[in-house]
Amino acid sequence: MDIQARIQTAMERHFQQILAVSTPPTLHAAMKHAVFPGGARIRPQLCTAVAMVCGEDDPFLTDAGAVALELMHCASLVHDDMPCFDDAQVRRGQTTVHAEFSEPIALLTGDALIVMAYQVLLSHRAKHTLSAEHSQRLMEMMHILSQGVGAPNGIVAGQAWECESKVDLWQYQRAKTGALFSASTSLGAVAAGANPAAWFVLGESLGDAYQIADDIRDVIGHIDLIGKPVGQDAGHGRPSAAQALGLEGANSQFKHLIETAAKSVPDCVGRDLLRSMIFKESERLVPQQAYQAYLNSHQAVQVSMV
Ligand code: IPE
Ligand code: IPE
Ligand code: MG
Ligand code: MG
Repeated sequence: MDIQARIQTAMERHFQQILAVSTPPTLHAAMKHAVFPGGARIRPQLCTAVAMVCGEDDPFLTDAGAVALELMHCASLVHDDMPCFDDAQVRRGQTTVHAEFSEPIALLTGDALIVMAYQVLLSHRAKHTLSAEHSQRLMEMMHILSQGVGAPNGIVAGQAWECESKVDLWQYQRAKTGALFSASTSLGAVAAGANPAAWFVLGESLGDAYQIADDIRDVIGHIDLIGKPVGQDAGHGRPSAAQALGLEGANSQFKHLIETAAKSVPDCVGRDLLRSMIFKESERLVPQQAYQAYLNSHQAVQVSMV
């Protein structure tokens, strides 16, 4: 089974197991809407790929970590799209949760998905008799996940920086996006009983690259291609890499970070496979031909206006 199929199966299994028929129907429907169909599922892929190359001995523990990461990510998107944040109407090519179901339901959907992430991790302990060592791994995974999501350096902190008048762009981006990427590689390593420190740079540099790519796509993308509105950073006056470095500066920094990520993969059996996944993902994020075409047409417009 390939990684994407494995993640999809684990997501569906946990969803069925945790959400009983007695869940309020609108909340149930909104939670499903927030999670299925998914986006790129990049965080669980990263977690699973790292666990596999580290020689995982408990695939259910890896799956629980991967699902928990994706649920946290989906929760962050539901809250991020709400009128009090980015007020977006489209996500992953479909109506956002608040637009489809109402604001109170969107707030509760995000909350329920955050709690569900921990329920998924704990369900592993309920179903399997864990050795002391595996219980320790589970505790460590909960700790890592909490750091990626909460204050002072996780997603919540990242979103909160938007309410401050003075913001360090890189601290803001690392918190709102990078922290869950570092958590993804670390979770994968811990699930397999490996040392998470060896995988930290990969998560960190990919996370930094990912948010820069998102900022570039916010300028050069189109709603039909990326499945969400464009021009949001400028529209909301958000600090962004495209604005701070210019498009070309942001693209150079993006490519540099992808190189750093690829170089950081520790010596292991799946090293080449992991590196090729990174380069493939980088091309999906910022297709260099489309980027160049945008730049050319933009420069042509500027010249004709002179
Ligand atoms: C979107 O994340 C928000 C950012 C952190 C840039 P993704 O681009 O991973 O969103 P999906 O899950 O694929 O929709
Ligand atoms: C991404 O924020 C990080 C989150 C916590 C959701 P953005 O606002 O930049 O992400 P998009 O562009 O809406 O996906
Ligand atoms: Mg936002
Ligand atoms: Mg947003």
